[in-house]
Amino acid sequence: MSQSRRFAVRAAREINKDTFIQEWPEAGLVMLGAPADPRPSLRIENGEIIEMDGKLRDQFDMIDTFVARHSIRLDVAEEAMATDSLQLARMLVDIHVPRADVIRRMNGLTAAKLVEVVSHLNVVEMMMALQKMRVRRTPANQAHVTNRKDSPALLAADAAEAAFRGFAEIETTVGVARYAPWNALAVLVGSQTGRSGVLTQCAVEEAMSLQLAMKGLTTYAETLSVYGTDPAFIDGDDTPWSKGFLASAYASRGVKIRFTSGTGSEALMAHANGHSMLYLEALCLLMTKGAGSQGVQNGSISCIALPESLPGGVAGVAAENLLAAMLDLEVATGNDAMASHSDIRKSAKLMLQFLPGSDFIFSGYSSIPKQDNMFGGGNLDADDLDDYLVLQRDMKVDGGLRPVREEETLAVRRRAAEALAVVFEAFGFPPITRAEIDRAVAGYASSDMPDRDMAADLAAAERFLTGPETVLGAVRALAKNGFPDIARNILEIERQRVIGDYLQPAAIFTRDFDVLSGVTDANDYRGPGTGYRLTGPRWDEICDIPQAYDPQLPQTPVSGITLELEECGETIVGSGPEVVIAVGPAFGTRLQQTVNDLPLASVLGQLLAGIAEEGVPARLIKIYRTSDLGQISFEGSRLSGSGIAIGIQSKGTTVIHRRGLLPLNNLELFSQASQLSLEHYHRIGRNAAGYALGRPVEPLLVPVDNMARLKYIVKTTILHRHETECVESGRPPELLRIKPRSRV
Ligand code: 5AD
Ligand code: CA
Repeated sequence: MSQSRRFAVRAAREINKDTFIQEWPEAGLVMLGAPADPRPSLRIENGEIIEMDGKLRDQFDMIDTFVARHSIRLDVAEEAMATDSLQLARMLVDIHVPRADVIRRMNGLTAAKLVEVVSHLNVVEMMMALQKMRVRRTPANQAHVTNRKDSPALLAADAAEAAFRGFAEIETTVGVARYAPWNALAVLVGSQTGRSGVLTQCAVEEAMSLQLAMKGLTTYAETLSVYGTDPAFIDGDDTPWSKGFLASAYASRGVKIRFTSGTGSEALMAHANGHSMLYLEALCLLMTKGAGSQGVQNGSISCIALPESLPGGVAGVAAENLLAAMLDLEVATGNDAMASHSDIRKSAKLMLQFLPGSDFIFSGYSSIPKQDNMFGGGNLDADDLDDYLVLQRDMKVDGGLRPVREEETLAVRRRAAEALAVVFEAFGFPPITRAEIDRAVAGYASSDMPDRDMAADLAAAERFLTGPETVLGAVRALAKNGFPDIARNILEIERQRVIGDYLQPAAIFTRDFDVLSGVTDANDYRGPGTGYRLTGPRWDEICDIPQAYDPQLPQTPVSGITLELEECGETIVGSGPEVVIAVGPAFGTRLQQTVNDLPLASVLGQLLAGIAEEGVPARLIKIYRTSDLGQISFEGSRLSGSGIAIGIQSKGTTVIHRRGLLPLNNLELFSQASQLSLEHYHRIGRNAAGYALGRPVEPLLVPVDNMARLKYIVKTTILHRHETECVESGRPPELLRIKPRSRV
């Protein structure tokens, strides 16, 4: 229990729901520099590695053996290993050293040396390096599309929306494993409805995944996990060789593959063998490379909260992303799993990949609501999409997504669900009903979906998996039943598997099925003016968020009450205990309501009523020569018989001034117009009259809103701009009369 209320309030904050521990190097709970981490070394004899990172060949374990045989480029290794790590680190950020030169050297390094190189970089340098070293020039993003009920209509609609929003890849998985073929089918049909060329996968057990790919239901596979110690690997019944074999099985069927690794997995399995997380990840990446995978998803992935519990954990995750890029591997840079309770911390972490850009900034952005994320909860999800789109626009960064409008999005969702219904009918599956389609289009989550007969669905899904039908049945059904474009897209996806160009490093498709990859769209970053630049139509698209409005549009009236004022000619200095109300140049003409949307007619009415209540006469005067409130009220007080004036700008900002005070001094100032109600204006009128009568007056206290400036500064700027545009310099103040037509 805190004695201090401030400490108690902080203790209850989201950040303090996260777990933080001190390092425990022996258990692998450390990012860098564990006791068993070796020092870099390499000896080659007769074209074979005979010593690596302090171990002789006969001491090599399974992983060392694989890495020594397959992962290190022997032709460059001796020179690269002999280069000072600090010098190699500097090459990573040096814009004068081309990426290809760096890649060549990095591929000759051992795991310990790779870690030594990145350990010289701070996070900003890592970001600079990632910007330069990632494989593809154009950054992209991957979505997670799943739901708790494995609802096919919802999966199709959500995949369509994800594709429509710009995700280049969509990953699904299952609640119940036997749904796998249906989920893969739903996401395939949905994706090709939303945007042609989106790649899809269904993450399930390896043999099943491969079977789905062979049926033409998926186009990439990503969950080929590797681990940095032998016992961790063996826990998963795998070896680097079996992973390499599996990768080849996919690739031989034209399916893009990417391995998965990430800091923390070995410690989690109690098999870190006294090594640091980054050292083990370097081994994983070398295996990934040696097994022939074109890329990897890393950045701790499902283990993210483990490195985040440690000092330097988030920087370490950036380092592992960079290690992948240094080895010329396509990298999907995590950000998929829930990394913190704190929105501040989640956003801060995201910046390390979002700002430099990576091949896939998320290895799965949860484009569905959190409750439907079957990967265990996304770090950002569907509710955060608008935040993400604003971040792109704020930073002028391409995060792979684009703003969409509700109406067009719902149309895409409907089409996808309807298309899938047609496929279901053709395959003789239990039908997708109209009610399901309607809810899939407009509902929030699978909790809004009607329940289906799961037993019947699973039986049909299993028959489909083991039966002769393939994706071609779906293509036929779509072509014959009003969805020829979706049929064409799916068929083209299948044709591209035969062509195989998208097996190139870091390949994605444009909507025209052009391959963007390390070959066709190689990252050519060489400093300012080079590499990927967010310009032209793509930048315009990112700017065009639906919330942004045209500041030049006239004020939209919020009430039917308009003020009409008649100008009655130049005015004179008054006499007696009067109050002058001096208004700004746009008052009741171009502008009709305050920043707070109070009709100026009502505001003026309340001021006048307050003054009248004290039995004091009032005169209404318009100031033309300035829009500055100090000057407006100064001018008013000069003309006032009592010397008391209320100055008011059209946006509602008000001051009570007395002749003799300097223009920027005042009796009472109400600078936050957004906080003023009609009752406040009434009180201001009474106070001004009180001053005019020369009796003691209690100043009016208005509540302070900390958010007022944030909320109203744009509107204030626009209103003040309008007021200032109405300024006529040199025109003297005029007396105003309220026309009887306007209701005050
Ligand atoms: N290392 C290796 N594999 C991982 N996965 C998730 N995190 C890691 C990691 N740090 C794998 C899981 C699953 C998929 C989500 O990715 O085993 O297959
Ligand atoms: Ca993924």
